[in-house]
Amino acid sequence: MPFRSSVAYLVLVFVSATHVASAQTFRPIRFLEKSKIFVLDAGSASYVFGINEQNALQHIYWGGHVARDEDFLAAHGSDEWASFDLGTTTTPQEYPGWGAGLYVEPSLKVSFPDGNRDLVLHYVAHQMEGETLTVTLKDIERELLVHLGYTVYPGTGLIRREAVVENRTGSPVVVENAQSGAVYVPRGDGYRLRYLSGRWAGEWQLNQEPVHTGVKVLESRRGSTSHQTNPWFALDRDGDSDPEHGNVWFGALGWSGSWRISVEGTPHQQVRVTGGFNPFDFAYSLAPGEKLQTPPFYLGYTGGGIGEASRILHRFVRAEILPRGSGKRTRPVLYNSWEATEFAVDEAGQIALAEKAAGLGVERFVMDDGWFGQRNTDHAGLGDWYVNPKKFPNGLGPLIRRVHELGMDFGIWVEPEMVNPDSDLYRKHPDWAMHFAGRPRTEARNQLLLNLAREDVREYVFHWLDDLVTKNDIAFLKWDYNRNFSEPGWPELPADQQKKIWVKFTQNLYDILDRLRAKHPTLEIESCSGGGGRVDLGILRRVEQVWPSDNTEAFDRLTIEQGFTYAYTPHIMMAWVTDVPNFNGRSAPLPFRFLVAMQGSLAIGSNLNKWPPENFGLARQMIGYYKSIRETVQNGDLYRLTDPSDGNFKASQYVSPDKSRSVVFAFLHSQQFGRMLPALALRGLDEQATYSVAIFDGKSRSNSPLPSRLSGAYLMHRGLELPLTGDYDATSVKLERVSD
Ligand code: GLA
Repeated sequence: MPFRSSVAYLVLVFVSATHVASAQTFRPIRFLEKSKIFVLDAGSASYVFGINEQNALQHIYWGGHVARDEDFLAAHGSDEWASFDLGTTTTPQEYPGWGAGLYVEPSLKVSFPDGNRDLVLHYVAHQMEGETLTVTLKDIERELLVHLGYTVYPGTGLIRREAVVENRTGSPVVVENAQSGAVYVPRGDGYRLRYLSGRWAGEWQLNQEPVHTGVKVLESRRGSTSHQTNPWFALDRDGDSDPEHGNVWFGALGWSGSWRISVEGTPHQQVRVTGGFNPFDFAYSLAPGEKLQTPPFYLGYTGGGIGEASRILHRFVRAEILPRGSGKRTRPVLYNSWEATEFAVDEAGQIALAEKAAGLGVERFVMDDGWFGQRNTDHAGLGDWYVNPKKFPNGLGPLIRRVHELGMDFGIWVEPEMVNPDSDLYRKHPDWAMHFAGRPRTEARNQLLLNLAREDVREYVFHWLDDLVTKNDIAFLKWDYNRNFSEPGWPELPADQQKKIWVKFTQNLYDILDRLRAKHPTLEIESCSGGGGRVDLGILRRVEQVWPSDNTEAFDRLTIEQGFTYAYTPHIMMAWVTDVPNFNGRSAPLPFRFLVAMQGSLAIGSNLNKWPPENFGLARQMIGYYKSIRETVQNGDLYRLTDPSDGNFKASQYVSPDKSRSVVFAFLHSQQFGRMLPALALRGLDEQATYSVAIFDGKSRSNSPLPSRLSGAYLMHRGLELPLTGDYDATSVKLERVSD
């Protein structure tokens, strides 16, 4: 929005007001002139804020849909509660600058060159266009502007918030903290926070804890999204423990760099959630005229419990986030070589695997790590992206051709942001690795990070990737990232610019991905980071799928899958069937492993060259079954049928949007005392409809233990009695609407 003077602000206000007065059709964003209130109508949710008498932007309401706009009163800033709690701090500001006695989390903190650090942001203008609203705030004295973006997605009830900070002061300004915005749930006690945490090989653990007075910080300081905490949260109230009922407020950040979400319980019973860049070690120097855009913060509300909150996010990611309409299609069944051969890849070995994989019904063959440079272990080769001539004397051509002959497409592993010190690239460009001048460089998995924030490094990475996919018929990249930042220096820049690395690195990653995808419009990409270290709504705009964890052990994976789906759709959740014994020294049976992997996007990661013959028949059947249900699994509505705290029995159900098809998976860890499972009540079906019932679990039976037809009402009220016994037993039930 081009502002030149205060006259320009006035013109914009006038234009917006005219727009409001003339339009009679439904508008998802409305400005009520009299009360100076903005109403955002996001389907099942309303989000309301206004301009208060101090001219500050103040939150009014976020929750279930309220159709009558006039019910909302004008915003009034809070009075001074005590000399220790001023109105500045107790007024629920939409985007508080740090200044004038603000003690809660600020949305923006800046330092001006004269030492002034006081920032008080007041409304100056707004602009509405269809489903987006931009509200411009300005410091009460200086030409430091913030353009707050609001986008409404009426189809899913989500709202997107972000902020663009613009320096028009004529001198440089250092942004020390830039958040996308603050949001508030209705004032009160008894809130519960859900979030996802973990570690390598143990990602996606669901945490549930009360919100007390104080700040709970969910964050990554690592330069990337992290395995440790994912940028997703959900809040509900005490007593709302039913997964399908009750109010839930939730959100997720779209950023793959260091991020933070703070959940703050104030002594005045306000619960505020603020999300954006992680302010730790943050200092973004804005030259005159320069802008900084914060990550998008996606926010949702539902009255349908945590189950519906997840399904809203699933639909949203498929409809609005995934690139090129990928969320409307289904993922191919994939084979990946990593657990089979690790670094020992070569032409003959990969062709042998590909031939066996094709026979099972696999649709995409992916060669993992080990094909390039001197990459025989994880000690060398990263950075040298030429095909290893010993392993592939004729290049990748013969393997790719054979994979195509077998009816599959071909994918390959890359780790573009990394370098091993033992590589030609590092020997040539040691300065390209992230470092502080003269300081040791901490290695992780024997590798260093390239400073992708540098333009020359960005160009180098783009060009070799472009070259690789131009010269070879590559349909898919598994894009890995196997360590976090350390020594985040950028010694080539003046000291006051160096901390830009936190933002520029991720911006350049996005730039490379965007350019590569634009140039190769059918190329698909998976985001992997030693498992689930880079899964967020920022990277998901640029990749079709993600790798949730390096832990492929089937029983652990059940917990990982369940946790993952609180925030992300099964559509993108890759799940491999791998060999045993695996993590924990556990050897779950093959049907159990298959059924676990069918809960997301199925893939095979086993060493097929070592499989006993009987596995092949079973695997063919399992893959055939998966293909018959994958549309429902990947693009349907997911119901988690068991409580996350139940480690012994887990079940999930997927229902097609028109309720005509459904599939159930159930897993028993170990039976005790001969106990049978209680009937499993299904959800989301059409009560009036009759469904055919087919059990599938790889067991040959003379009689099905279930009736062949049941009504939706019976399935949901009476439920299914599943015949699981012993240890590591699993089954699946496919339901299809039939006419009686
Ligand atoms: C990471 C990935 C694995 C595999 C290895 C290869 O750990 O998560 O799936 O690709 O790297 O080195």
